[in-house]
Amino acid sequence: MSLKIDSAFIQAAEHRPKPTISDAGAGTIPLIDLSPLLHHQIPSDPSDPAIADEISSLIASIGAACRDWGFFQVVNHGVDPQLLDRIQAAVVEFFALPAEEKRKVKRDEVNALGYYDSENTKNVRDWKEVLDLVIREYDDGLLLLKNRWPEYPPAMRKTCEEYIANVEKLSYKLVELISLSLNLPAKRFNGFFKDSSSYFRLNYYNPCPTPDLVLGVGRHKDSEALTVLYQDQVGGLDVKRKSDGEWIRVKPTPNSYIINVGDIIQVWTNEKYESVEHRVSVNSEKARLSIPFFFFPTFSTNVKPLEELVTDENPAKYEEYNWRDYFSSLLGSNFKKMDKENIQISDFKKTTI
Ligand code: OGA
Ligand code: NI
Repeated sequence: MSLKIDSAFIQAAEHRPKPTISDAGAGTIPLIDLSPLLHHQIPSDPSDPAIADEISSLIASIGAACRDWGFFQVVNHGVDPQLLDRIQAAVVEFFALPAEEKRKVKRDEVNALGYYDSENTKNVRDWKEVLDLVIREYDDGLLLLKNRWPEYPPAMRKTCEEYIANVEKLSYKLVELISLSLNLPAKRFNGFFKDSSSYFRLNYYNPCPTPDLVLGVGRHKDSEALTVLYQDQVGGLDVKRKSDGEWIRVKPTPNSYIINVGDIIQVWTNEKYESVEHRVSVNSEKARLSIPFFFFPTFSTNVKPLEELVTDENPAKYEEYNWRDYFSSLLGSNFKKMDKENIQISDFKKTTI
């Protein structure tokens, strides 16, 4: 890699507290076993008297994790470990290609999909290489999202498509369980994702000679509904613990996914479940790979607190906003490197309620 540390990287890491490394137990994000779903259907209604105990406790654990952490890990999620191995191998092969080969699929201001490395976004540089793809292409004349599939490795496209079909299925299961945990029908959210244009990102964090001065990804919250992230065994994701604001390193668990609530679930639930800050630390020895799947609603969705979760005592905390317009402004501000902060859901927070 030809990346050189410069001041734009170093600014990103100023005043950076060291993470607490946490292995297990109450101090770290919950680990949830999805194996009850291998034997039972997800019930359609939370008051169904026939819900198996295992499923009821699964729903309760997911609800508690969303409320207390905004993050959790899942195992026995139904995605074949061999598929995970295959996608990892393809991604490693892609990022190992010579720079000029990767740049053949470089993103640009017209179409944000494709490859980029450590571009300066939001006046801060992230120490990483990225390939961005969508599961469904989009073009409304103003916003264009068209995949740039790499030619190498030859199996990349097929493997990614197979992977996406599996991870999307898992994402639906997760939003159904989240909906039940809110005492809503399982499919309350599903309609929002019909023809979704979910994002699929491949992140590659090269070893960094000065890991204490640089971040792989600066602190941020995810803007979409739900993130389903696969990471390799290197580790580097730090989550801000809600109870005390400490940064907690998520210890990698083989064949698991890390799930986090995004801003849209925060708005839908009127802040019952909050989107939580996280960041990526880098290290000087090993490259790290992560594959987030960002579950987007359909672009035409107008996002606002769900009526069922709004009452006189708990009025809507957000004005309605359109997801396509919001996303488009996010992309625009990334490219223009504006001094101003990116658009944020707090821009839609009601000031007088
Ligand atoms: C992200 C992100 C975490 C990781 O891409 O939004 O938080 O571990 N990634 O790469
Ligand atoms: Ni993130």
